[in-house]
Amino acid sequence: MTKKKITDVAGFGLRLIALRKKAGYTQQQLAGKLGVSRRMIAYYEGETVHPPTTILPRLAQTLGVSADDLLVGKYTSPTVIEGKAVPRKPTVYPTGSHAVRVACVREVYSAEDIRIVQGDSRRALSAIPDNTFQCCITSPPYWGLRDYGIAGQIGAENDPDVYIQDLVAIFREVRRTLRPDGTLWLNIGDSYTRGDRRWRAPDKKNAGRAMSYRPPTPAGLKPKDLIGVPWRLALALQADGWFLRSDIVWNKPNCQPESVKDRPTRAHEYVFLMSKAESYFYDFEAIREPSMNGQEPKNRRTVWNINTNGFHGAHFAVFPPELVRLCVLAGSKPGSVILDPFFGSGTVGLVCREYQRHCVGIELNPDYVSMAVERMSVVVLDGHCSESLACAQ
Ligand SMILES: C[S@@+](CC[C@H](N)C(=O)[O-])C[C@H]1O[C@@H](n2cnc3c(N)ncnc32)[C@H](O)[C@@H]1O
Repeated sequence: MTKKKITDVAGFGLRLIALRKKAGYTQQQLAGKLGVSRRMIAYYEGETVHPPTTILPRLAQTLGVSADDLLVGKYTSPTVIEGKAVPRKPTVYPTGSHAVRVACVREVYSAEDIRIVQGDSRRALSAIPDNTFQCCITSPPYWGLRDYGIAGQIGAENDPDVYIQDLVAIFREVRRTLRPDGTLWLNIGDSYTRGDRRWRAPDKKNAGRAMSYRPPTPAGLKPKDLIGVPWRLALALQADGWFLRSDIVWNKPNCQPESVKDRPTRAHEYVFLMSKAESYFYDFEAIREPSMNGQEPKNRRTVWNINTNGFHGAHFAVFPPELVRLCVLAGSKPGSVILDPFFGSGTVGLVCREYQRHCVGIELNPDYVSMAVERMSVVVLDGHCSESLACAQ
């Protein structure tokens, strides 16, 4: 049986921080009282994934660098490719130190252009400085539709109002981390109240659609009501300060069939374009669409016809890369840093890499993190995915 590390005990770090602050100690003071290094306290508080090591200063000195340089990634570790060590290029972010602070949440993958943080977006975002990202492209879990099977997940709230409040709070943090001319591209789908069924029938065609329960019909709604989640969320975000700039209908020509006979089959979801300020970066030229009759390409319209294309490893809805591509091209420039706080299998990261953008992805579920790392990894460090290379004190 593997021994559980104390730092893996749920809530340990947060309890320690709260109790230390209540007792009036800084990390340094508490460390001094115990006769240990401050890094030791930081480690127990979950601020760094590096176990404290007393040989670190001597190690760094022998190698001719400072301890911070050794930890922060200015001199990254060699990558092993086919048994040969190949020095990796230094990690360079146009936005400076944010990557270092992201790493302190629990960075599990670090490449020159992509960083993946495993954890709850609510906590991970709080570690990221203001004005970091050019845009955020994301698809939160839909309400009451899928069970991602992990504590802290968004979407399994019994009440859609609570779900919306949770998302508004997360996107408030996202707004803080966006540059002043930044945008949010938010994909969100709708769902129905449960009617008189408490359990969903298993969905044999699409395991990702199955949820082990149906939440109760929310107050104020009737059985079989379409809830209107996308617009409830969009209006709540608008009330919270976002500029609601466009609703884009993502039409899915190859949508899943539904066994309904009293309404049309749903074939669309929404992508809301929101901005932090009244004027913002939007490259309309980059996503022009073809005109009829061989005329000049025209400004992109608000209905996007894009097939869903499942990713075989995933049991949930993955973004079609084409949808992400349009958001990336219009919402950023090469070299920009893009955020996805619900990273899933990492489609946003892959598209960013293809178009020379940088990306920070946050994902709660370790299984999906592994999936994303696998999709992202061309190289593997010593047979493991790269643990955080960057964690400044
Ligand atoms: C719709 S999926 C995203 C799929 C992704 N766009 C892709 O292409 O693979 C939503 C993701 O949000 C994750 N999630 C749910 N609650 C979260 C939270 N509190 N913090 C971070 N991620 C969360 C789920 O585990 C799931 O992977």
